[in-house]
Amino acid sequence: MSLQLWTNARVATQAAGAGAPYGLIEDGAVAVEDGRIAWVGARRDLPLALDDAAVEHDAQGGLLTPGLIDCHTHLVYAGDRAAEFEARLNGASYEEIARAGGGIVATVRATRAADEESLFAQSRRRLRSLLAEGVTTVEIKSGYGLSQEQEAKCLRVARRLGASEGVTVRTTFLGAHALPPEFSGRPDDYIDEVCRMLPALHAQGLVDAVDAFCERIGFSPAQTRRVFEAARALGLPVKLHAEQLSDSEGAALAASFGALSCDHLEWLSEAGARAMARSGSVAVLLPGAFYFLRETRVPPIALLRQHGVPLAVATDCNPGTSPCTSLLLMLNMACTLFRLTPEEAWAGVTRHAARALGLHDRGALAPGLRADFVLWDAQHPAELCQALGSNPRRTTVIEGRIA
Ligand code: NIG
Ligand code: FE
Repeated sequence: MSLQLWTNARVATQAAGAGAPYGLIEDGAVAVEDGRIAWVGARRDLPLALDDAAVEHDAQGGLLTPGLIDCHTHLVYAGDRAAEFEARLNGASYEEIARAGGGIVATVRATRAADEESLFAQSRRRLRSLLAEGVTTVEIKSGYGLSQEQEAKCLRVARRLGASEGVTVRTTFLGAHALPPEFSGRPDDYIDEVCRMLPALHAQGLVDAVDAFCERIGFSPAQTRRVFEAARALGLPVKLHAEQLSDSEGAALAASFGALSCDHLEWLSEAGARAMARSGSVAVLLPGAFYFLRETRVPPIALLRQHGVPLAVATDCNPGTSPCTSLLLMLNMACTLFRLTPEEAWAGVTRHAARALGLHDRGALAPGLRADFVLWDAQHPAELCQALGSNPRRTTVIEGRIA
């Protein structure tokens, strides 16, 4: 592909340590070659050779940012949980519903019953909503199949979605999400099964990372450890749903396996935050689930800041705790509910989100990185954090091509 040049933009590079907040460059230019960023800087500094050779795109004064990265979703599922929503409004709690055989297991029933095409079509709708707001990389977890065959079906759908929509999809095996009914009362046997499934799914090229739900209504730290050991034996990175509803000391366990990220973290302790800092794990904050479950305990943001843990922000798109397909709304909620600064929230959906997925080739605009970026009808990144329900996306560019 020829050299492309994007000019007349305010460029928010999101590069770490860029000096200016958001890495902002006034009257910036971005040169792209072979799907990668060849050059980025102020227009006046553009090397003449680049200027002469390039096909120019006029951004007409818009804001140019890296493509957004949603680093935690469960968007492949069937059915909905509107009845559970209603039950909660009539007084039941999320935990009570889960213990009574609803919750995650209700979605497992619907997902198992759906054929692959229907699951694909239902999930594509959600993915397209994310993409419409400038998402260019998305993580998708399994965890609503809970048998080798059904987990494979969900992960295949995730892979196919990436290919059909032209975005990067990173798949995460979340076999240890809930206890399937056929293993009722035998969680350790089910964990044996999860550890058996993993190598088979990995051999099919379906697994980029491994996750678990370490919680009173999920799996114990000892069970989680066994899943992580199976992942380690295959050289797969791990991440964890940790301290969402209680402090199970999951974050410290995950950190001891060098986890890419620990996610949720409302009940994270100081020891957990310290362990995450030591292992370099990212804290993935999920304000949609906090909001939707009407939680009152905010993740310990000050503690995470104090220990220098990178903060990412994601939708957690799932039918039970965050039926949300808007990463822009999460940008807002990270600020309003968790008091992140707009600059922190932006790092959370760009470079820190990339890190939470173990991706080093994206998440900022810098030479050599993938040319995944979005042009917005906006003047400043904070505008996108402030807005509720508006979508100023003008153009998405993926690997240098207009999507
Ligand atoms: O991230 N906490 C566990 N998993 C999901 C919820 C899944 C569901 O309720 O269907 C979460 O909140
Ligand atoms: Fe989740």
